[in-house]
Amino acid sequence: MLKSLFGLKDAGSKADRRPEEGSIALEPSPISYLSPALLALEEWKWPTPGEIRAQLLGNNCGELWRSIPNGHKWLNYFDYYESLFSSFRGKKPKVLEIGVDRGGSLVLWKRYFGIGSQIVGIDIKQDCLSFDRPSDGIHVRIGSQDDPVFLESIVDEFGPFDIVIDDGSHIVSHQIASFNALFDRGVKVGGIYMVEDLETSYWGQRTGQADLPVTFIDFARAVIDLMHKPYVDQDYGAFLIEQTSGAALEVPYITKIVDQVRFFDSIVAFYRRDRLPPVVEHLFNT
Ligand SMILES: C[S@@+](CC[C@H](N)C(=O)[O-])C[C@H]1O[C@@H](n2cnc3c(N)ncnc32)[C@H](O)[C@@H]1O
Repeated sequence: MLKSLFGLKDAGSKADRRPEEGSIALEPSPISYLSPALLALEEWKWPTPGEIRAQLLGNNCGELWRSIPNGHKWLNYFDYYESLFSSFRGKKPKVLEIGVDRGGSLVLWKRYFGIGSQIVGIDIKQDCLSFDRPSDGIHVRIGSQDDPVFLESIVDEFGPFDIVIDDGSHIVSHQIASFNALFDRGVKVGGIYMVEDLETSYWGQRTGQADLPVTFIDFARAVIDLMHKPYVDQDYGAFLIEQTSGAALEVPYITKIVDQVRFFDSIVAFYRRDRLPPVVEHLFNT
């Protein structure tokens, strides 16, 4: 499996760790720099269902989800959700979720974030309108996540949001279109834009979701590179506090508004912040 996914000839010896002809790996793949010990193939055994479910005990989000019918979730997500979202609980956040389906997660987020939270779900299926409950702070609108005009109307009506969750089509071009339409105008400063189910990018052509030559994870890596744009071909001298006062850098807009990109298994989260340009100060005794 390791070989076919990443195009490695063999994880065991340095000489063999070359990308296979025709593989998806870059030449040379960054993976080829990992040590043979870290690439050695291992058995990875599943615990029993009981043992896995027991791990959800004490996880607020996971316990709530198990009490709500009409959903399916990767069970490892609940730790990630807690890590990303627990600081918003009880603070009346505005949450946009792309992908309503049977309405299970709308109810989950409402109960999880609590009284005063506003949960907005969007979907292409007309029948999802049956989950629209404005008096409970749950709103549903119908449209496609790759339609920037529709997304703009959602931001105008309800936004900006503290949290955006993309659990929609899982088509890479759609994930990117939604990020482009929503990250700037649709997410509050201090908010989080999260995309889940990124495993779908790795399922190959069968599902039609990997519709671009890049995965969404490649796209997120590019955002990380752009976070670091100020440093390209520079050194400390350009960032010394004594020299930066009144001066300016020229950077892509995204560099100024993302200050963290967090990767989990199949999830990536972008933190919307107004960054200051990087500055270095030396405090030496002599
Ligand atoms: C995985 S389900 C959502 C599950 C839901 N978030 C939950 O956890 O209960 C994905 C949903 O995305 C919707 N969807 C598919 N393509 C879409 C698109 N282009 N725009 C918006 N929603 C879309 C599907 O109709 C489906 O209901």
